[in-house]
Amino acid sequence: MHHFHYAGSNLQCENVDLAEIARLYGTPTYVYSAATMADNYNRLASGLKGLDLQICYAMKANSSLAILRHFANLGAGFDLVSGGEVRRVLAAGGDIKRSVFAGVGKTEAEIELALKNDIFAFHVESEPEIARINHVAGKLGVKAPIAIRINPDVDAHTHAKITTGKSDNKFGIPLAHAAAAYEAAARFPHIQIKGAQMHIGSQLTSLAPFVEAVKKVAPFVTDLKAKYGITYWSIGGGIGIIYKDALASGSPEWWSAQPADTRPLTPEAYGEALTPLLAPLGLKIVLEPGRYMVGNAGVLLSRVEYLKRGKGKNFLIVDAAMNDLVRPAMYDSFHEIVPLHRDTERPALVADVVGPVCESGDCFAKDRPLQSVGEGEYIAFMSAGAYGYTMSSRYNTRNMAAEVLVQGGASDLINARETFEQQIQNEKLPAFLTK
Ligand code: LLP
Repeated sequence: MHHFHYAGSNLQCENVDLAEIARLYGTPTYVYSAATMADNYNRLASGLKGLDLQICYAMKANSSLAILRHFANLGAGFDLVSGGEVRRVLAAGGDIKRSVFAGVGKTEAEIELALKNDIFAFHVESEPEIARINHVAGKLGVKAPIAIRINPDVDAHTHAKITTGKSDNKFGIPLAHAAAAYEAAARFPHIQIKGAQMHIGSQLTSLAPFVEAVKKVAPFVTDLKAKYGITYWSIGGGIGIIYKDALASGSPEWWSAQPADTRPLTPEAYGEALTPLLAPLGLKIVLEPGRYMVGNAGVLLSRVEYLKRGKGKNFLIVDAAMNDLVRPAMYDSFHEIVPLHRDTERPALVADVVGPVCESGDCFAKDRPLQSVGEGEYIAFMSAGAYGYTMSSRYNTRNMAAEVLVQGGASDLINARETFEQQIQNEKLPAFLTK
């Protein structure tokens, strides 16, 4: 469920007309619904009620300060993966004490920054990392709280580039080696063993891999509690969202029309399946959802520049490009494309929807049936709230897009479009080229 819908012929985010936003701030522009994010957070929290739950929003999905603040206000901690992300949480007024620090390549400076800000725990990915954390904690005269990331070797049945819980991924320590890693960790004077962690992949659309991984690792976690007195288990993120029927899935009617056996994953079903497995452990349960929290809460607005009628092929050339939303180019991912002004009288159009970047990979959709739209009209890429802006770049010297947050009838620019001057501000011409 989300808050993007047509009011008459105009696509709205909550009570705000999206074409108005496009006219006001230009395009490409990301627009986010605060109500959708709040619903996502609250539904997940109530889906697992009964557990001692801590939701650490995986901010790599979308790390705009306003969005971090919104989740902090709702009670979330954060799943962080860099010193930059620590600093973003601080800048947004979020709580590092309720946040976890993951990632395979933590530097000494990042470890120090997190320790100085009382990080809840480090999610450790390798034995050498434990030694490094111990070293930094020793220098600061503190004990560093850690959980070891256990790789359960469960197939998440998702895109190869976003699966993480198989033994051939770079992440975590295999379950078979985890006991030895904990024993090694226990011998370090500046390490405090606080928990256990796992994460099997992203955009999981069925419950089975989550259940399988929890069942597989739970006995080991029980042993850890007995041996080291661990107090929490993070079971990671990964809850998938709807890309194909994105717009329709905003309405309760769409959900009730889905047959029970093929109904997409909901936070309620996730909670119902996992709570009985997790409750008996008597541990705090940490979740690290990223995509689920923001994915369906954001769209990317774009303007049609040209309709190029090719030989047996139409190209709809829009002003957003792979630098703004790289997911289709990178993962062949599907994003629904809808007009901001709906007109059912118009003829249909089948086109490749492409951006202006100079490579063929700059393609959002191939042979996509669309309502025909012409130059100057606006479209929206649905389900673009997660891994959209955060993965964007300046390729082809394009400025980073603007971001707008909507709540009810209010909207505000939360990130102004980058200017060319900002883009080149750190560059210089060396003297040996200009003399
Ligand atoms: N926890 C850990 C340790 C992770 O590595 C990730 C995501 C998450 C949590 C959050 O996963 P989520 O709930 O968002 O599925 N750029 C890709 C997704 C990469 C995910 C990386 N790790 C995409 O656009 O599909």
